[in-house]
Amino acid sequence: MNEKRVAIVTGSSSGIGFEISLMLARNGLTTYATMRDLHKSSMLTSIADKEKIPLRCVQLDVTDDMSVKQAIETIVNESHNIDILINNAGYGLSGALEDLLIDEIKLQFDTNFFGLIRATQAVLPIMRNHGSGIIVNISSGLGRFGIATSSAYASSKFAVEGLTESMSYELEPFGIKTILVEPGIIKTNFIKAAVLAQKSKDPNSPYFQFMNNMDEGMKKLIENSESPEYVARVVLDAINDSNPKLRYLAGKDVEQIMEIKNKMSDEDFHNMIKNMSS
Ligand SMILES: NC(=O)c1ccc[n+]([C@@H]2O[C@H](COP(=O)([O-])OP(=O)(O)OC[C@H]3O[C@@H](n4cnc5c(N)ncnc54)[C@H](OP(=O)(O)O)[C@@H]3O)[C@@H](O)[C@H]2O)c1
Repeated sequence: MNEKRVAIVTGSSSGIGFEISLMLARNGLTTYATMRDLHKSSMLTSIADKEKIPLRCVQLDVTDDMSVKQAIETIVNESHNIDILINNAGYGLSGALEDLLIDEIKLQFDTNFFGLIRATQAVLPIMRNHGSGIIVNISSGLGRFGIATSSAYASSKFAVEGLTESMSYELEPFGIKTILVEPGIIKTNFIKAAVLAQKSKDPNSPYFQFMNNMDEGMKKLIENSESPEYVARVVLDAINDSNPKLRYLAGKDVEQIMEIKNKMSDEDFHNMIKNMSS
């Protein structure tokens, strides 16, 4: 078990984290599929038992310092090393900026940004002592460009992008690689699990119609979206690359939009997104 690479995935109860956990374990990595509520582990556990793949579920809530500490201790006691951390746990907060409460934004950042930092800081001493490791941060297309009603989510993912770029310079000398994976729209529980800001529920909100338009647009985009397995494959290919890139797009939609963005001025790109969302 120890000569196999050991991977930890956060937010494995559903969607992208669920599929990454399975993909890694099916490819022989000793995989710790972590989740905040272990009652949601039965599906993963039963697939792992049936397929006899090296996957184990461990409780880890990225917003809880003690939970992160205990999970990492449990894993290190068992496996003596951590080779790969996939920071995947996250959710969306939607609402126009004026309608967002500071506490709603703080909760968004506590999961998507500070949660990722908690898990990363807990594994870094282990990877640094070992002189190797890979940290994969699941960002988003919305870590590269903003859209209306997603300011809190997009800014949490922009923060993940800046953090990852900066830490990559610090960690490379210790043999630790950092990778950003930027999915487009992916068919998961993400939309159902998204939190709608309290004030956005009020039909008197000046942004109520805007919210409805964005909702309708999103429903159409989801119809043609990629599966979470697509993202899991991108992650597997990235961690198996001996010289991985800093950024990987995951989804035809985000690949197309970034290709266009890279050829346009900021002003032209801004106008294009504005026309798409009106
Ligand atoms: N789906 C998309 O279109 C899309 C696009 C770009 C980026 N992403 C990113 O991909 C990642 C995974 O999202 P998904 O699409 O797979 O959505 P999902 O199906 O809703 O999965 C989100 C996962 O994060 C977990 N989570 C939330 N808060 C947590 C916490 N405090 N501690 C530990 N786990 C927590 C959820 O656990 P519970 O089951 O307990 O809630 C769930 O396992 C997120 O970072 C998201 O921002 C998604």
